[in-house]
Amino acid sequence: MSTISAAGAGTFTIGGDLEVTRLGYGAMRITGEGIWGPPADPDQAIAVLKRLPELGVDFIDTADSYGPEVSEQLIHDALHPYGDMRVATKAGLTRQGPEIWKPVGRPEYLRQQALLSARRLGVDTLELFQLHRIDAKVDRGEQFAELKALQDDGIVRHLGLSEVSVDEIKAAQEVFAVTTVQNLYNLTNRQSEDVLQYCEQQGIGFIPWFPLAAGDLAKPGGVVDDIAQAHGATAGQVALAWLLAKSPVMLPIPGTGSVAHLEENVAAADLRLTDEELATLDAAAS
Ligand SMILES: NC(=O)c1ccc[n+]([C@@H]2O[C@H](COP(=O)([O-])OP(=O)(O)OC[C@H]3O[C@@H](n4cnc5c(N)ncnc54)[C@H](OP(=O)(O)O)[C@@H]3O)[C@@H](O)[C@H]2O)c1
Repeated sequence: MSTISAAGAGTFTIGGDLEVTRLGYGAMRITGEGIWGPPADPDQAIAVLKRLPELGVDFIDTADSYGPEVSEQLIHDALHPYGDMRVATKAGLTRQGPEIWKPVGRPEYLRQQALLSARRLGVDTLELFQLHRIDAKVDRGEQFAELKALQDDGIVRHLGLSEVSVDEIKAAQEVFAVTTVQNLYNLTNRQSEDVLQYCEQQGIGFIPWFPLAAGDLAKPGGVVDDIAQAHGATAGQVALAWLLAKSPVMLPIPGTGSVAHLEENVAAADLRLTDEELATLDAAAS
C-alpha cells in the first residue's frame, strides 16, 4: 500500500513559483448529501485527508461553499499547519440548501469570503484563490479588480477562475495574472477543449472537475473498459491517466470520501497508456 504515490504524475508550477504534484484532491465530497452540512462519518473524512500526504498528494482544492465551511474546517482540523500541502480555495457561490448554488460576486462579499476562508484554514495568505463563478449580475471588471486588490493586500497569493470561456480569461488577464482555470472536463465532456488549449499556450494550470466521469464509454465492452482490462486497472484510473497524458498543464483533482477510493485514484499516477490507447480515447467522445 505504501508504494502508491502521486509522484508519477509529475509536477506543475502554478504562477511560476508554486510547484504541486499534478494529481491533486478535490475536497467537495467530504461534506453531507448535496454538499450540505457535515459528512455522515467525520472520522472517515479526516482519515482521507490525513492519508493525502502519505500518498504524495500535495494539492487540495476546496471552496467556502463546500458544506458551506465544512470542507475547509475539516482540512484545517486534519492537516494544519499543512507542511508541503498546498490548499486552494474558491469563493463566489452561495448556498441556500443541498445542491443549490447561486453566484454572488459583489466585491465586498468576495473580500469577506477570502478573509473567512483564511481564518478557517488558519493561514495569513491563501496560496490560490479562485473565483468560483463570475456573477452575471455584477460587472465582471469589478469582480476581477477585487481579486487583484486581495492579491495586492497579501490576502491571496495566486488567482484563478472557474467555469470560464477563453474570452473571460483574456478579460481577467487584463487585470491580474490568471494562474489556474477550473472547468468541467473529462472523457465524455470536452466542451472546454478550447479553454484547455488556451491554458496550455499561456502556462495556466487547467483543473478539470468531475475528472472521473467516463459515462457509457466505461460500460462493459466499451473503449474505456477494454483499455482498463488490458492494464488490470479501473475505468476511473484510465480516465485519470488519459487526463494526465493529455496536457502538461492538466491538474486533475478527483474527489472522494473514501480512503480506498483515494488510493485507487492516486495509483492512476503510475498508469501509462500507449499512444494508440490515448488516440482511441481522444476519438471516443468526439
Ligand atoms: N469549480 C467547480 O465549479 C467545481 C464543480 C464540481 C467539483 N469541483 C471540484 O472538483 C473535484 C472533483 O469533482 P467531483 O467530485 O465532482 O467529481 P469526481 O472527482 O470525478 O467524482 C467524484 C465521485 O466519484 C466517486 N469516486 C471517487 N473515486 C472513486 C473510485 N475510485 N471508485 C468509485 N467511485 C469513486 C465519489 O464517491 P465516493 O466519495 O464514494 O468515492 C464521487 O461520487 C471536487 O471535489 C471539487 O473540488 C469544482
